[in-house]
Amino acid sequence: MNSRNTLKVNAAGHLEIGGCDTLELAKEFGTPLYVYDEDYIRAMMRVFKNTINKDYDGHGKVLYASKAFSCLAMYRIAKQEGIGCDAVSGGELYTALKAGFNAADIYVHGNNKTYEELVQAVKAGVGGIVIDSYREADILDKIAAEYKVKQKVLIRVNPGVEAHTHAFVQTARTDSKFGFSFRDNTALEYTKHVLSLKNLELKGYHCHIGSQIFEKQSFSLAAQNMIEFMVAVKKEAGFEAEILNMGGGFGIYYTDEDPKFTESDYAEYLLTLIKTVKEKSKELNFRLPYLLIEPGRSIVGEAGITLYTVGSIKDIPGIRKYVAIDGGMFENPRYALYQSKYTVVKAADVNAANVQKVSIAGKCCESGDLIGVDLPLPEVESGDILAVLSTGAYHYSMASNYNRNFIPQAILVKDGKAETIIKKQTFEDLVRNDVIPDSLK
Ligand code: LLP
Repeated sequence: MNSRNTLKVNAAGHLEIGGCDTLELAKEFGTPLYVYDEDYIRAMMRVFKNTINKDYDGHGKVLYASKAFSCLAMYRIAKQEGIGCDAVSGGELYTALKAGFNAADIYVHGNNKTYEELVQAVKAGVGGIVIDSYREADILDKIAAEYKVKQKVLIRVNPGVEAHTHAFVQTARTDSKFGFSFRDNTALEYTKHVLSLKNLELKGYHCHIGSQIFEKQSFSLAAQNMIEFMVAVKKEAGFEAEILNMGGGFGIYYTDEDPKFTESDYAEYLLTLIKTVKEKSKELNFRLPYLLIEPGRSIVGEAGITLYTVGSIKDIPGIRKYVAIDGGMFENPRYALYQSKYTVVKAADVNAANVQKVSIAGKCCESGDLIGVDLPLPEVESGDILAVLSTGAYHYSMASNYNRNFIPQAILVKDGKAETIIKKQTFEDLVRNDVIPDSLK
């Protein structure tokens, strides 16, 4: 639990977040419940923004990667904090605009944007579209002509660095659905093609090396490769890129297997990236690019927790104990998808000793519907409230109505007050788009 984090144990021994007792929140709003700590979100946005202001003379911008958690309130907070965002679908773009976001502060991503999404982005006047195929460049050129604009674009480059949580590999990998490789000339050839299109204005390049990364070297190496590539493009194609977008990827704490970063650690990470960009640009006599970064998980991941109520408990002697909760893969598919690990606490007694290892099971009709296996827990019984920590990123945004369960409500907490940011679903919501066709009447 970090300094910027309002997650604490209160005098009663209960878990508290944003000055609110989690047992009270569970009682007032019901479970499962996504809870977001507003101070945390704002503090992280400021860490990145201030670092760019201080150490890069403000010559750059933070774009919140809204795929981590997209809803009106979240874009509103980003807007208030003076940062931009990245949107990866028509839905995210629509939500950002509806929240009042300035279109020029939105960058649009995606390896296969639809025609309609491209039209939507051009019409809105977004700051940039990150293009990723010949087809897309050609379609976008036509759309821009139709709307009489010169659309600003970045090209997605595969920077030859692939990073994982605790390691990175430098690779010439061209086998990715994302980007053009800088190593085999495909990025250079694509650049020439884009420069030949009259209605597109190429501003620079984008890369993203992965997510949940703790290796500073990964970012440095990717930045070095990108600048070397931009220098090569200047030489070979006469194009001098103005913008370098280094994507997102900073890791967060889920369990004791992960480092626990403070705000200054995150600033330090960004600073390492900034230093590399400065040094390499100077070394190769390249004009300092306008720097964009796209943190998602690090802004909102540890800001969120999910509250559950324990239902049935099944002890299979000598094999395993299952503690079932009222959530599951419909609101947290990350264990089922990635075997992600979490810290789980008993909200009524955070300091209680862990006396057992249990599997936390969801309520979906699949054996793989788990939140975790062999998790240490104190004694728990039906009716207890459990809190799963670090669930702010890629939880709500990846939730579904599988088994026709409700996607949980989300609330924002601050200074002892809780406000709804995503309402409870109703049964009527579940059938809203269903139709009984005439043939069945
Ligand atoms: N920019 C681009 C182009 C991205 O593809 C991503 C994430 C980000 C920024 C933000 O990265 P972050 O700072 O959040 O690491 N569903 C997975 C994560 C997928 C990330 C995809 N791209 C998960 O739950 O772990």
